[in-house]
Amino acid sequence: METVVHNPGLDGVVVGESAICQIDETRGSLRYRGYAIEDLAEQATFEEVSFLLLHGDLPSSCDLQEWQAELTYAGSLPTVVGQFLQTVPSSAPLMDVLRTGVSFLGMIDTEAQDVSHEANLRKATRLLAQMPLLLSWAVRTRYDHPVLKVPATKSFAQSLLYLLTGDLRESHAKELEVSLNLYAEHELNASTFAARVTASTLADLYGAVTAAIATLKGPLHGGANEGVAEMFYAIREPEEAQGWIHAKLRGKERVMGFGHRVLKHEDPRSAIIKRRAKALSQQADETRWYEIAEIIERTMKEEKGLLPNLDFYTAVVYQLIGIPKQAFTPIFVTSRMSGWCAHIIEQQDHNRLIRPRASYIGHPAREFLYIGDR
Ligand code: CMC
Repeated sequence: METVVHNPGLDGVVVGESAICQIDETRGSLRYRGYAIEDLAEQATFEEVSFLLLHGDLPSSCDLQEWQAELTYAGSLPTVVGQFLQTVPSSAPLMDVLRTGVSFLGMIDTEAQDVSHEANLRKATRLLAQMPLLLSWAVRTRYDHPVLKVPATKSFAQSLLYLLTGDLRESHAKELEVSLNLYAEHELNASTFAARVTASTLADLYGAVTAAIATLKGPLHGGANEGVAEMFYAIREPEEAQGWIHAKLRGKERVMGFGHRVLKHEDPRSAIIKRRAKALSQQADETRWYEIAEIIERTMKEEKGLLPNLDFYTAVVYQLIGIPKQAFTPIFVTSRMSGWCAHIIEQQDHNRLIRPRASYIGHPAREFLYIGDR
């Protein structure tokens, strides 16, 4: 066997090439297919960003019209999915409902097993369009709220917000849209890597997305944004924030929304969402969550030298636009679906099975004994 480099967590390991997302950790910059996140986040719609990720270029206005029509056309849930959702126990985490829902959609899609570029793109479009409906069904039936219909001629972000909360305010939809743009893609994070590993076996796109959703759920990854909201509820008052964080750090606990495996100096997405959170708090005249967040940020920097990641101030924004905490990570799914599918398509277009090695630390070779002789 050749020398195996032992690198826990694949820290810093480059496992392949990708043309989708560029992270420059030393400059703290992030680009989707060449475009800076600072330009895309607030100026592009989520439809433009998802088109860019899946098709490789920003759409022309004609492309965009077609893309919007495709998303609208693809955005319906088969009746059997509705029936399946009625069997889901109300205690099931929404991430589990999405994971199983996507897996279910794969079983009833006649194109599921076709891994060609064109079929994958069609499936990605359908999933992107179906995710808000699946999430809305899961959230609203849980709280006995009537399931809402997709509003006519509304953007992806407006529809998603409306389907979840019944709110059609454009200002709130814009906040959600910025967060969707920021969440859409982030190179080989754990869930995207899981998707690519699954796709590399030439398993179908639904299976790869199911693996990605399962992976995103964890609190060290996408689940962190719900963890941040829980922390805010536990702290409640700005004057409690510093002491609360000190106690957590004394107990060697992790504070959700801080730190990043790759972005050690700065998460460029965090500066954008922080600015939005501040402005929104002032407009809404509800500054408590933002004040708590700033104290936590200061304390974490002083005590651990750690900076907030995207999940931290996103929790403030979601709180202020009325999104239920349980839907925070599922909203991440609705957006990251575009990045995951772009990676699955890229993987299967230029496939090589992903199969790393492990450094063996188990028992040395030993002799097998029949059961009666052990
Ligand atoms: N709170 C407290 N201590 C921390 C944190 C944190 N959030 N993050 C890292 N540390 C400490 C850790 O305890 C360790 O300390 P020591 O050396 O004294 O044992 C040191 O920093 C290095 O930790 P690590 O786990 O080796 O660092 P990593 O680069 O592998 O961790 C991370 C990355 C995201 C898993 C970690 O920062 C973390 O657990 N953060 C909290 C969860 C979170 O916010 N996740 C979202 C990540 S970004 C968005 C996404 O991908 O979804």
